[in-house]
Amino acid sequence: MSDRKIYVQTFGCQMNVHDSEQMIELLKGHGYQPTREPKRADLIIVNTCSIREKADQKAYSQLGRYRGLKRKKPGLILGVSGCLAQQLGGEFFKKIPHLDFVLGTHNIHRLPSVLETVERTGSPLVETAFHETVPSTGIVTIPEKGTVTAFVTIMQGCNNFCAFCVVPYLRGVEESRKFGDIVAEVRMLASSGAKEVTLLGQNVNSYGKTLGDGHNFALLLKAIGEVHGIGRIRFTTSHPRDLTEDIIRCFAEVEKVCEHIHLPVQSGSDRILKRMNRYYTREDYLAKVEKLREVCPDISITSDMIVGFPGETEADFRATLDLMEKIRFDGLFSFKYSERPGTAASRLDGKVPMEEKGRRLRELQALQEKHTLQKNLACVGRKEEVLVEGYSKQNRREFMGRTRNNRIVNFGSRENCLGRTVSVHISAAYQHSLRGELEPL
Ligand code: 5AD
Ligand code: SF4
Repeated sequence: MSDRKIYVQTFGCQMNVHDSEQMIELLKGHGYQPTREPKRADLIIVNTCSIREKADQKAYSQLGRYRGLKRKKPGLILGVSGCLAQQLGGEFFKKIPHLDFVLGTHNIHRLPSVLETVERTGSPLVETAFHETVPSTGIVTIPEKGTVTAFVTIMQGCNNFCAFCVVPYLRGVEESRKFGDIVAEVRMLASSGAKEVTLLGQNVNSYGKTLGDGHNFALLLKAIGEVHGIGRIRFTTSHPRDLTEDIIRCFAEVEKVCEHIHLPVQSGSDRILKRMNRYYTREDYLAKVEKLREVCPDISITSDMIVGFPGETEADFRATLDLMEKIRFDGLFSFKYSERPGTAASRLDGKVPMEEKGRRLRELQALQEKHTLQKNLACVGRKEEVLVEGYSKQNRREFMGRTRNNRIVNFGSRENCLGRTVSVHISAAYQHSLRGELEPL
Protein backbone atom coordinates (compact mmCIF):
# COMPACT_ATOMS: atom_id res chain seq x y z
CA MET A 1 0.00 0.00 0.00
CA SER A 2 2.97 2.30 -0.15
CA ASP A 3 3.73 5.09 -2.58
CA ARG A 4 0.22 5.72 -3.76
CA LYS A 5 -0.55 9.24 -4.86
CA ILE A 6 -3.49 11.36 -3.83
CA TYR A 7 -4.67 14.51 -5.59
CA VAL A 8 -7.27 16.67 -3.86
CA GLN A 9 -8.97 19.43 -5.78
CA THR A 10 -10.61 22.02 -3.58
CA PHE A 11 -13.46 24.37 -4.37
CA GLY A 12 -14.92 27.01 -2.09
CA CYS A 13 -14.01 28.44 1.27
CA GLN A 14 -11.06 28.19 3.64
CA MET A 15 -13.01 25.62 5.60
CA ASN A 16 -12.79 23.36 2.56
CA VAL A 17 -9.10 24.11 2.10
CA HIS A 18 -8.59 23.00 5.67
CA ASP A 19 -10.72 19.86 5.23
CA SER A 20 -8.62 18.96 2.18
CA GLU A 21 -5.42 19.32 4.21
CA GLN A 22 -6.95 17.05 6.84
CA MET A 23 -7.84 14.38 4.28
CA ILE A 24 -4.31 14.39 2.90
CA GLU A 25 -2.79 14.21 6.38
CA LEU A 26 -5.13 11.37 7.31
CA LEU A 27 -4.18 9.33 4.24
CA LYS A 28 -0.46 9.85 4.72
CA GLY A 29 -0.87 7.38 7.56
CA HIS A 30 -2.35 4.92 5.07
CA GLY A 31 0.41 4.90 2.50
CA TYR A 32 -0.64 7.87 0.35
CA GLN A 33 1.50 10.85 -0.63
CA PRO A 34 0.11 14.04 -2.17
CA THR A 35 0.79 14.92 -5.79
CA ARG A 36 0.10 18.14 -7.69
CA GLU A 37 -0.62 16.28 -10.93
CA PRO A 38 -3.97 14.51 -11.30
CA LYS A 39 -2.42 12.33 -14.05
CA ARG A 40 -0.07 10.74 -11.54
CA ALA A 41 -2.74 10.13 -8.91
CA ASP A 42 -4.14 6.79 -7.77
CA LEU A 43 -6.85 8.59 -5.85
CA ILE A 44 -8.55 11.86 -6.80
CA ILE A 45 -10.92 13.61 -4.42
CA VAL A 46 -12.92 16.64 -5.55
CA ASN A 47 -13.80 18.60 -2.42
CA THR A 48 -16.90 20.54 -3.40
CA CYS A 49 -18.69 23.68 -2.33
CA SER A 50 -22.39 24.35 -2.68
CA ILE A 51 -22.73 27.92 -1.53
CA ARG A 52 -23.74 29.20 -4.97
CA GLU A 53 -24.89 27.47 -8.14
CA LYS A 54 -21.69 28.42 -9.94
CA ALA A 55 -19.67 26.41 -7.42
CA ASP A 56 -21.83 23.34 -8.14
CA GLN A 57 -21.25 23.71 -11.88
CA LYS A 58 -17.47 23.91 -11.47
CA ALA A 59 -17.40 20.68 -9.49
CA TYR A 60 -19.54 18.81 -12.04
CA SER A 61 -17.43 19.88 -14.97
CA GLN A 62 -14.24 18.93 -13.15
CA LEU A 63 -15.60 15.50 -12.22
CA GLY A 64 -16.69 15.03 -15.84
CA ARG A 65 -13.15 15.72 -17.02
CA TYR A 66 -11.72 12.96 -14.84
CA ARG A 67 -13.69 10.36 -16.78
CA GLY A 68 -10.92 10.26 -19.41
CA LEU A 69 -8.27 9.68 -16.74
CA LYS A 70 -10.26 6.82 -15.27
CA ARG A 71 -10.52 5.14 -18.67
CA LYS A 72 -6.75 5.33 -19.11
CA LYS A 73 -6.04 4.14 -15.59
CA PRO A 74 -8.72 1.68 -14.46
CA GLY A 75 -7.34 1.44 -10.90
CA LEU A 76 -7.85 5.15 -10.30
CA ILE A 77 -10.32 5.88 -7.50
CA LEU A 78 -12.45 9.01 -7.82
CA GLY A 79 -14.26 10.44 -4.82
CA VAL A 80 -16.25 13.52 -4.00
CA SER A 81 -16.49 15.26 -0.62
CA GLY A 82 -17.70 18.57 0.81
CA CYS A 83 -21.04 20.36 0.79
CA LEU A 84 -22.30 19.22 -2.60
CA ALA A 85 -21.51 15.62 -1.64
CA GLN A 86 -23.51 16.11 1.56
CA GLN A 87 -26.39 17.62 -0.38
CA LEU A 88 -26.64 15.01 -3.15
CA GLY A 89 -25.47 11.81 -1.46
CA GLY A 90 -26.23 8.80 -3.67
CA GLU A 91 -27.84 11.05 -6.30
CA PHE A 92 -24.29 11.94 -7.30
CA PHE A 93 -23.84 8.59 -9.05
CA LYS A 94 -26.68 9.47 -11.45
CA LYS A 95 -24.85 12.61 -12.53
CA ILE A 96 -21.33 11.17 -12.42
CA PRO A 97 -21.54 7.41 -13.06
CA HIS A 98 -17.75 6.92 -12.95
CA LEU A 99 -17.59 8.07 -9.33
CA ASP A 100 -16.36 5.63 -6.64
CA PHE A 101 -17.42 7.29 -3.40
CA VAL A 102 -19.33 10.20 -1.88
CA LEU A 103 -18.09 11.47 1.47
CA GLY A 104 -20.21 13.94 3.48
CA THR A 105 -19.09 16.92 5.57
CA HIS A 106 -19.31 14.98 8.86
CA ASN A 107 -17.47 11.92 7.59
CA ILE A 108 -13.90 12.95 6.90
CA HIS A 109 -12.67 10.66 9.69
CA ARG A 110 -14.26 7.74 7.77
CA LEU A 111 -12.15 8.29 4.65
CA PRO A 112 -9.59 5.50 5.27
CA SER A 113 -12.29 2.91 5.88
CA VAL A 114 -14.32 4.13 2.88
CA LEU A 115 -11.25 3.74 0.69
CA GLU A 116 -10.50 0.34 2.06
CA THR A 117 -14.04 -0.84 1.26
CA VAL A 118 -13.99 0.64 -2.25
CA GLU A 119 -10.64 -0.99 -2.96
CA ARG A 120 -11.80 -4.35 -1.60
CA THR A 121 -15.25 -4.52 -3.16
CA GLY A 122 -14.91 -2.25 -6.18
CA SER A 123 -18.45 -1.04 -5.44
CA PRO A 124 -19.45 2.60 -5.12
CA LEU A 125 -20.03 3.85 -1.58
CA VAL A 126 -21.93 6.72 0.04
CA GLU A 127 -21.02 7.95 3.53
CA THR A 128 -23.05 11.01 4.41
CA ALA A 129 -24.50 10.24 7.87
CA PHE A 130 -25.06 13.46 9.74
CA HIS A 131 -23.59 13.32 13.23
CA GLU A 132 -24.82 15.71 15.92
CA THR A 133 -21.19 16.16 16.90
CA VAL A 134 -18.72 16.32 14.06
CA PRO A 135 -16.21 13.59 14.81
CA SER A 136 -12.69 14.97 14.89
CA THR A 137 -10.08 13.46 12.62
CA GLY A 138 -7.70 13.90 15.55
CA ILE A 139 -5.17 15.31 13.13
CA VAL A 140 -3.29 18.57 13.33
CA THR A 141 -2.10 19.62 9.91
CA ILE A 142 1.44 20.73 10.43
CA PRO A 143 2.41 23.41 7.93
CA GLU A 144 4.76 22.26 5.17
CA LYS A 145 8.38 23.19 5.71
CA GLY A 146 8.80 26.90 5.09
CA THR A 147 5.07 27.67 5.48
CA VAL A 148 4.45 30.14 8.22
CA THR A 149 0.68 30.53 8.05
CA ALA A 150 -1.67 27.91 9.46
CA PHE A 151 -5.43 27.41 9.84
CA VAL A 152 -7.23 26.18 12.91
CA THR A 153 -10.90 25.23 12.86
CA ILE A 154 -12.45 26.45 16.11
CA MET A 155 -16.05 25.52 15.39
CA GLN A 156 -18.18 23.58 12.97
CA GLY A 157 -21.58 24.30 11.48
CA CYS A 158 -23.84 27.29 11.88
CA ASN A 159 -27.11 28.04 13.68
CA ASN A 160 -27.97 31.26 11.93
CA PHE A 161 -30.08 30.12 9.00
CA CYS A 162 -29.64 33.28 6.96
CA ALA A 163 -32.45 32.93 4.43
CA PHE A 164 -30.15 32.62 1.40
CA CYS A 165 -27.61 30.22 2.87
CA VAL A 166 -27.38 26.48 2.53
CA VAL A 167 -24.50 26.02 5.00
CA PRO A 168 -26.55 25.13 8.12
CA TYR A 169 -28.26 22.35 6.16
CA LEU A 170 -24.99 20.91 4.90
CA ARG A 171 -22.57 21.52 7.72
CA GLY A 172 -24.98 21.00 10.60
CA VAL A 173 -25.58 22.90 13.83
CA GLU A 174 -22.97 25.10 15.41
CA GLU A 175 -20.50 23.34 17.64
CA SER A 176 -17.43 24.87 19.25
CA ARG A 177 -14.27 22.88 19.82
CA LYS A 178 -12.92 22.72 23.34
CA PHE A 179 -10.94 25.78 24.40
CA GLY A 180 -7.95 23.78 25.70
CA ASP A 181 -7.76 21.66 22.52
CA ILE A 182 -7.60 24.75 20.33
CA VAL A 183 -4.89 26.43 22.40
CA ALA A 184 -2.91 23.16 22.46
CA GLU A 185 -3.19 22.92 18.67
CA VAL A 186 -1.94 26.48 18.23
CA ARG A 187 1.03 25.70 20.52
CA MET A 188 1.84 22.66 18.42
CA LEU A 189 1.62 24.70 15.21
CA ALA A 190 3.91 27.34 16.71
CA SER A 191 6.48 24.73 17.64
CA SER A 192 6.49 23.48 14.05
CA GLY A 193 7.17 26.92 12.65
CA ALA A 194 3.81 28.66 12.21
CA LYS A 195 3.97 32.40 12.82
CA GLU A 196 0.41 33.27 11.90
CA VAL A 197 -2.80 31.41 12.67
CA THR A 198 -6.19 31.98 11.10
CA LEU A 199 -9.08 30.80 13.24
CA LEU A 200 -11.86 29.34 11.13
CA GLY A 201 -15.59 29.00 11.63
CA GLN A 202 -18.80 30.05 9.89
CA ASN A 203 -19.48 32.45 12.74
CA VAL A 204 -16.40 32.71 14.96
CA ASN A 205 -17.81 35.55 17.07
CA SER A 206 -20.25 33.15 18.67
CA TYR A 207 -17.47 30.77 19.65
CA GLY A 208 -18.14 29.18 23.06
CA LYS A 209 -21.92 29.45 23.09
CA THR A 210 -22.37 25.69 22.72
CA LEU A 211 -19.68 24.92 25.33
CA GLY A 212 -21.61 26.42 28.24
CA ASP A 213 -18.44 26.72 30.32
CA GLY A 214 -17.95 30.49 30.18
CA HIS A 215 -15.39 30.46 27.39
CA ASN A 216 -15.97 32.90 24.55
CA PHE A 217 -14.20 34.26 21.49
CA ALA A 218 -12.54 37.22 23.23
CA LEU A 219 -11.05 34.86 25.84
CA LEU A 220 -9.81 32.59 23.07
CA LEU A 221 -8.09 35.49 21.30
CA LYS A 222 -6.43 36.49 24.59
CA ALA A 223 -5.24 32.93 25.27
CA ILE A 224 -3.81 32.50 21.77
CA GLY A 225 -2.21 35.92 22.15
CA GLU A 226 -0.05 34.34 24.87
CA VAL A 227 1.29 31.52 22.70
CA HIS A 228 5.00 31.96 22.20
CA GLY A 229 6.12 31.99 18.55
CA ILE A 230 2.78 33.11 17.10
CA GLY A 231 3.09 36.70 15.93
CA ARG A 232 -0.23 37.16 14.18
CA ILE A 233 -3.80 36.07 14.75
CA ARG A 234 -6.50 36.32 12.09
CA PHE A 235 -10.02 34.97 12.06
CA THR A 236 -12.91 34.50 9.71
CA THR A 237 -15.91 34.79 9.42
CA SER A 238 -17.54 37.26 11.81
CA HIS A 239 -21.28 37.85 12.04
CA PRO A 240 -22.10 41.52 12.79
CA ARG A 241 -24.79 40.58 15.30
CA ASP A 242 -22.36 38.57 17.45
CA LEU A 243 -19.47 41.04 17.29
CA THR A 244 -19.38 42.16 20.93
CA GLU A 245 -17.51 45.11 22.44
CA ASP A 246 -15.28 42.58 24.17
CA ILE A 247 -14.19 41.19 20.82
CA ILE A 248 -13.79 44.65 19.30
CA ARG A 249 -11.51 45.67 22.18
CA CYS A 250 -9.22 42.72 21.38
CA PHE A 251 -8.05 44.65 18.29
CA ALA A 252 -6.42 47.10 20.71
CA GLU A 253 -5.71 44.85 23.67
CA VAL A 254 -4.26 41.75 22.02
CA GLU A 255 -1.28 42.97 20.06
CA LYS A 256 -1.09 39.85 17.91
CA VAL A 257 -4.63 40.26 16.57
CA CYS A 258 -4.13 41.71 13.08
CA GLU A 259 -5.89 44.93 12.14
CA HIS A 260 -8.35 43.39 9.72
CA ILE A 261 -11.88 42.12 10.03
CA HIS A 262 -14.02 40.39 7.45
CA LEU A 263 -17.52 41.43 8.47
CA PRO A 264 -20.13 40.38 5.90
CA VAL A 265 -23.02 42.86 5.71
CA GLN A 266 -24.86 41.31 2.69
CA SER A 267 -27.10 44.37 2.02
CA GLY A 268 -27.46 48.02 2.93
CA SER A 269 -31.25 47.93 3.04
CA ASP A 270 -33.07 47.22 6.30
CA ARG A 271 -35.99 45.68 4.46
CA ILE A 272 -33.70 43.19 2.72
CA LEU A 273 -31.63 42.49 5.84
CA LYS A 274 -34.85 41.53 7.56
CA ARG A 275 -35.91 39.26 4.71
CA MET A 276 -32.43 37.70 4.87
CA ASN A 277 -32.82 36.88 8.61
CA ARG A 278 -29.64 38.73 9.47
CA TYR A 279 -30.95 40.22 12.75
CA TYR A 280 -29.24 43.62 12.50
CA THR A 281 -30.04 46.90 10.78
CA ARG A 282 -27.79 49.10 8.68
CA GLU A 283 -27.56 51.48 11.66
CA ASP A 284 -26.39 48.58 13.89
CA TYR A 285 -23.76 47.72 11.30
CA LEU A 286 -22.59 51.33 10.93
CA ALA A 287 -22.34 51.60 14.72
CA LYS A 288 -20.14 48.48 14.89
CA VAL A 289 -17.88 49.86 12.16
CA GLU A 290 -17.60 53.15 14.01
CA LYS A 291 -16.67 51.34 17.21
CA LEU A 292 -14.08 49.22 15.37
CA ARG A 293 -12.48 52.33 13.87
CA GLU A 294 -12.53 54.11 17.22
CA VAL A 295 -10.75 51.22 18.97
CA CYS A 296 -8.41 50.50 16.05
CA PRO A 297 -8.08 53.45 13.64
CA ASP A 298 -5.95 51.47 11.18
CA ILE A 299 -8.31 48.53 10.87
CA SER A 300 -9.14 47.35 7.40
CA ILE A 301 -12.71 46.20 6.92
CA THR A 302 -13.79 43.80 4.20
CA SER A 303 -17.25 42.43 3.59
CA ASP A 304 -19.58 40.23 1.52
CA MET A 305 -22.53 41.63 -0.41
CA ILE A 306 -25.36 39.96 -2.29
CA VAL A 307 -27.28 41.71 -5.06
CA GLY A 308 -30.66 40.64 -6.40
CA PHE A 309 -31.96 38.92 -3.27
CA PRO A 310 -35.70 38.17 -3.78
CA GLY A 311 -37.67 41.39 -3.39
CA GLU A 312 -34.63 43.69 -3.79
CA THR A 313 -35.87 46.87 -5.50
CA GLU A 314 -33.79 49.56 -7.16
CA ALA A 315 -34.20 51.63 -3.96
CA ASP A 316 -32.86 48.74 -1.82
CA PHE A 317 -29.91 48.40 -4.17
CA ARG A 318 -29.23 52.18 -3.94
CA ALA A 319 -29.23 51.79 -0.14
CA THR A 320 -26.48 49.18 -0.52
CA LEU A 321 -24.37 51.52 -2.68
CA ASP A 322 -24.99 54.30 -0.18
CA LEU A 323 -23.77 52.10 2.68
CA MET A 324 -20.64 51.31 0.68
CA GLU A 325 -20.01 55.05 0.20
CA LYS A 326 -20.45 55.63 3.91
CA ILE A 327 -18.14 52.82 5.00
CA ARG A 328 -15.65 52.56 2.15
CA PHE A 329 -14.67 48.94 2.53
CA ASP A 330 -11.05 47.99 1.97
CA GLY A 331 -12.25 45.03 -0.08
CA LEU A 332 -15.55 43.38 -0.93
CA PHE A 333 -16.67 39.97 -2.19
CA SER A 334 -19.88 40.49 -4.08
CA PHE A 335 -22.29 37.95 -5.50
CA LYS A 336 -25.48 37.68 -7.49
CA TYR A 337 -28.10 35.98 -5.35
CA SER A 338 -28.17 32.30 -6.23
CA GLU A 339 -31.16 30.21 -5.24
CA ARG A 340 -30.20 27.22 -3.09
CA PRO A 341 -32.47 24.23 -2.61
CA GLY A 342 -34.21 23.98 0.75
CA THR A 343 -33.38 27.50 1.95
CA ALA A 344 -36.04 29.95 3.19
CA ALA A 345 -35.20 32.41 0.41
CA SER A 346 -35.95 29.83 -2.26
CA ARG A 347 -39.60 30.12 -1.17
CA LEU A 348 -39.70 33.93 -1.28
CA ASP A 349 -41.39 35.86 -4.07
CA GLY A 350 -39.99 38.83 -5.97
CA LYS A 351 -37.25 37.02 -7.92
CA VAL A 352 -34.92 39.48 -9.64
CA PRO A 353 -34.18 38.70 -13.32
CA MET A 354 -30.64 37.50 -14.12
CA GLU A 355 -29.82 40.50 -16.38
CA GLU A 356 -30.85 42.87 -13.63
CA LYS A 357 -28.69 41.05 -11.08
CA GLY A 358 -25.81 41.32 -13.55
CA ARG A 359 -26.33 45.05 -14.03
CA ARG A 360 -26.44 45.67 -10.27
CA LEU A 361 -23.35 43.57 -9.67
CA ARG A 362 -21.35 45.44 -12.33
CA GLU A 363 -22.31 48.82 -10.89
CA LEU A 364 -21.48 47.72 -7.36
CA GLN A 365 -18.14 46.23 -8.36
CA ALA A 366 -17.12 49.35 -10.27
CA LEU A 367 -17.74 51.42 -7.15
CA GLN A 368 -15.82 49.00 -4.96
CA GLU A 369 -12.85 48.91 -7.34
CA LYS A 370 -12.60 52.66 -6.95
CA HIS A 371 -12.68 52.38 -3.15
CA THR A 372 -10.18 49.51 -3.06
CA LEU A 373 -7.71 51.39 -5.20
CA GLN A 374 -8.08 54.56 -3.14
CA LYS A 375 -7.50 52.57 0.05
CA ASN A 376 -4.43 50.88 -1.44
CA LEU A 377 -3.04 54.20 -2.69
CA ALA A 378 -3.35 55.61 0.83
CA CYS A 379 -0.74 53.03 1.93
CA VAL A 380 1.96 54.55 -0.29
CA GLY A 381 4.72 56.10 1.82
CA ARG A 382 3.92 53.99 4.86
CA LYS A 383 6.23 51.53 6.52
CA GLU A 384 4.48 48.19 6.90
CA GLU A 385 5.23 45.03 8.85
CA VAL A 386 5.16 42.21 6.30
CA LEU A 387 5.13 38.47 7.00
CA VAL A 388 6.76 36.86 3.95
CA GLU A 389 4.71 33.90 2.71
CA GLY A 390 6.33 33.04 -0.61
CA TYR A 391 7.40 34.39 -3.97
CA SER A 392 5.67 37.04 -6.03
CA LYS A 393 3.27 35.60 -8.63
CA GLN A 394 4.52 37.85 -11.43
CA ASN A 395 8.21 37.64 -10.67
CA ARG A 396 9.50 34.53 -8.95
CA ARG A 397 12.67 36.36 -7.96
CA GLU A 398 10.69 38.69 -5.75
CA PHE A 399 9.02 37.97 -2.43
CA MET A 400 5.36 38.18 -1.49
CA GLY A 401 3.95 38.80 1.95
CA ARG A 402 1.01 40.39 3.71
CA THR A 403 0.66 43.49 5.82
CA ARG A 404 -1.09 43.14 9.15
CA ASN A 405 -4.22 44.55 7.54
CA ASN A 406 -4.09 41.80 4.92
CA ARG A 407 -2.75 43.58 1.84
CA ILE A 408 -0.42 41.72 -0.48
CA VAL A 409 3.02 43.30 -0.84
CA ASN A 410 5.65 42.35 -3.43
CA PHE A 411 9.27 43.40 -2.97
CA GLY A 412 12.78 42.45 -4.03
CA SER A 413 15.60 41.31 -1.76
CA ARG A 414 19.00 39.72 -2.20
CA GLU A 415 18.65 37.94 1.08
CA ASN A 416 16.24 35.09 1.57
CA CYS A 417 13.26 36.55 3.43
CA LEU A 418 10.96 33.52 3.32
CA GLY A 419 9.06 33.09 6.56
CA ARG A 420 10.47 36.26 8.08
CA THR A 421 8.68 39.30 9.40
CA VAL A 422 10.24 42.32 7.70
CA SER A 423 9.63 46.01 7.39
CA VAL A 424 8.75 47.29 3.91
CA HIS A 425 8.45 50.85 2.70
CA ILE A 426 5.42 50.98 0.38
CA SER A 427 6.27 52.69 -2.90
CA ALA A 428 3.34 51.88 -5.21
CA ALA A 429 -0.23 50.65 -5.05
CA TYR A 430 -2.40 48.73 -7.52
CA GLN A 431 -5.87 47.23 -7.55
CA HIS A 432 -4.85 43.94 -5.92
CA SER A 433 -1.47 44.54 -4.34
CA LEU A 434 1.20 46.93 -3.11
CA ARG A 435 4.86 47.24 -4.04
CA GLY A 436 7.64 48.22 -1.74
CA GLU A 437 11.29 48.38 -0.79
CA LEU A 438 12.69 46.31 1.98
CA GLU A 439 14.01 48.33 4.92
CA PRO A 440 17.49 47.21 6.02
CA LEU A 441 17.17 43.88 7.83
N1 5AD B 1 -26.34 33.44 -3.18
C1 5AD B 1 -25.37 34.37 -3.29
N2 5AD B 1 -24.41 34.54 -2.37
C2 5AD B 1 -24.42 33.74 -1.30
N3 5AD B 1 -23.61 33.67 -0.23
C3 5AD B 1 -24.04 32.67 0.57
N4 5AD B 1 -25.13 32.10 0.05
C4 5AD B 1 -25.40 32.74 -1.11
C5 5AD B 1 -26.40 32.62 -2.11
N5 5AD B 1 -27.36 31.70 -2.01
C6 5AD B 1 -22.49 34.57 -0.03
C7 5AD B 1 -22.70 35.43 1.23
C8 5AD B 1 -21.73 34.81 2.21
C9 5AD B 1 -20.63 34.33 1.28
C10 5AD B 1 -19.72 33.31 1.86
O1 5AD B 1 -21.30 33.80 0.18
O2 5AD B 1 -22.34 36.75 0.91
O3 5AD B 1 -21.27 35.72 3.17
FE1 SF4 C 1 -24.60 30.97 6.08
FE2 SF4 C 1 -25.48 32.97 7.61
FE3 SF4 C 1 -24.32 30.81 8.76
FE4 SF4 C 1 -22.82 32.53 7.33
S1 SF4 C 1 -23.93 33.01 9.24
S2 SF4 C 1 -22.78 30.27 7.21
S3 SF4 C 1 -24.23 33.19 5.73
S4 SF4 C 1 -26.24 30.85 7.62
